[in-house]
Amino acid sequence: MDNLFNVRMRAAKGGAHEEGGRHISGGELITTHEELRKQIHRLVDKAFAHSRGMPDFFQVKVEVIESPLSFVPPLSPIHYVVPSVLKGRLLAKKRLATCGINDLVIEKAFQLLEEHSHVRGALIIDAKTGERLDKNFDRGVRVSAFSWKEQSYEEWLSRHRLTKQERMKDAVALASKVCAHPWTVAEVCWSDDPDYVTGYVASSTFGYERISHMKKRGDERGGRLLFVENYDETYLRYLEEKPVWIGWEELG
Ligand code: COA
Ligand code: AMP
Repeated sequence: MDNLFNVRMRAAKGGAHEEGGRHISGGELITTHEELRKQIHRLVDKAFAHSRGMPDFFQVKVEVIESPLSFVPPLSPIHYVVPSVLKGRLLAKKRLATCGINDLVIEKAFQLLEEHSHVRGALIIDAKTGERLDKNFDRGVRVSAFSWKEQSYEEWLSRHRLTKQERMKDAVALASKVCAHPWTVAEVCWSDDPDYVTGYVASSTFGYERISHMKKRGDERGGRLLFVENYDETYLRYLEEKPVWIGWEELG
């Protein structure tokens, strides 16, 4: 089998992230040697066409993948159009409650998210108590090492009569990896991109539930909550490191 490569891009303004630069854009994919050049170009385009601004720091990291990849089928999408942020947040809370999460836990977790919109990853929340479980206070947990199989992406679009949309493509991939773990109860997210007000709730039971308004346009505060029924080092390793294809194995 040909080597596979994990390609990770991050871009910032005002210097590198670790030197205090402001995050502009990130992106990641898994690809073959043959496709490497083309895929890196895609990440360059992504970094330099972002509504958060023009980066002055840009880095691409390419690593050979050593472990074998398993397949995670993509979540099915549902779209909800709501007239306001208030209605969007309310709907997100209702959908989380349908996943079996108590209303008080949901309120507590949303409050945590409001107070931690500067966190660079997701907050891991105990689905029973609403306590934050990850100890990486300003960092959170960043889900990584996942990539769509292009043929499966085309099939997924066609099954759901959708057209290509990069943001949704990325978000569905991330949510599919997160929700494929049996300890994940649900995820909720809205972007830190000021122009992108759509968010979602995701779960293995109900799929990727896209909600048209989850924040006000112009607002740079975003966030992600992962509600879990259990949490340990193996769960963390799964989210951060286990490489997976998003797609159906039978499509290759
Ligand atoms: N927001 C703010 N800062 C970020 C960031 C983000 N989303 N992602 C990375 N950074 C900064 C942080 O300062 C980070 O340091 P930290 O680990 O102390 O937080 C630093 O960059 C290095 O991050 P790291 O993850 O080690 O860099 P990387 O080059 O290996 O990978 C990404 C960067 C962005 C590719 C990876 O973190 C990621 O998020 N992968 C998934 C991306 C994706 O496909 N997202 C789909 C959109 S939902
Ligand atoms: P984004 O969807 O990239 O706009 O990110 C929305 C929020 O999710 C950000 O504000 C971060 O808190 C968080 N986040 C960004 N990247 C990741 C990731 N790879 N894994 C988990 N959370 C992330």
